[in-house]
Amino acid sequence: MKVLANFEDNHKIPSNSAIDSILGGGFEKGTITQIFGPPSSGKSNITLTLAVNVAKNNRKAIYIDTEGGISIDRIKQISGGDFPRVANNIIVFEPTTFLEQNDNLRSIDVWLRKNHEDVDLLVLDSAVALYRVDDMKSAKLNKELGKQMGILSKIARTYDIAVVLTNQIYNAFDEEGNNDIRAVGGTILQYWSKVILQLERGEEINQRTATLIRHRSIPEGRKAIFSITSEGII
Ligand SMILES: Nc1ncnc2c1ncn2[C@@H]1O[C@H](COP(=O)(O)OP(=O)(O)OP(=O)(O)O)[C@@H](O)[C@H]1O
Ligand SMILES: [Mg+2]
Repeated sequence: MKVLANFEDNHKIPSNSAIDSILGGGFEKGTITQIFGPPSSGKSNITLTLAVNVAKNNRKAIYIDTEGGISIDRIKQISGGDFPRVANNIIVFEPTTFLEQNDNLRSIDVWLRKNHEDVDLLVLDSAVALYRVDDMKSAKLNKELGKQMGILSKIARTYDIAVVLTNQIYNAFDEEGNNDIRAVGGTILQYWSKVILQLERGEEINQRTATLIRHRSIPEGRKAIFSITSEGII
């Protein structure tokens, strides 16, 4: 099966979709990759597919779900007959406040000191959903977000884990009044994400486009078209 073939280059985690080709094979370990896009653009589907692919390969994935809706049914669909094994290899956290998200990241960091050898992937879906609803002052929030990104970057590099985070977008108007689509979390998330993918909905109902916005060794602007299906993304 394609999953195992792609894992031969075991520094990249395959999504088994066209996205892998614009990323030179898959989602890189040791690095933070950010996926941003509007609601229903496929962010969670991609991260769930990555977690399932890691789990099928008998490696572990940590999944931080801040939107409280990690769909066990969806993981079952994507894993096909492999669900029991997959379920054993995905560790889920469901923080409900931004400070709890902070605590979860710290606990994960401590836990990884002894357990990192089995772990290939850490997903934070989404990085800023709780940041947006929390009523902390924005300077304090930004400081916390910076600290969280520092922990994630350290985890990625120290333990050679692929960190994948998702980010919603918001519409803002720039000084000339043009509609300007930007990722929330400001410059902090952009600074720490070494690979950035933007998702957009395509014309057909299940079709989506991914565009490479940032990468250290691949030209930016590359695009991939993928579809969301019951088996995940293809
Ligand atoms: N079994 C399935 N078959 C086909 N499409 C599906 C299936 N399950 C979900 N989808 C599609 O996936 C899309 C939602 O994708 P996803 O949850 O990954 O979006 P998202 O970018 O994470 O959105 P949000 O910002 O709201 O979290 C919906 O358009 C839905 O129709
Ligand atoms: Mg989502």
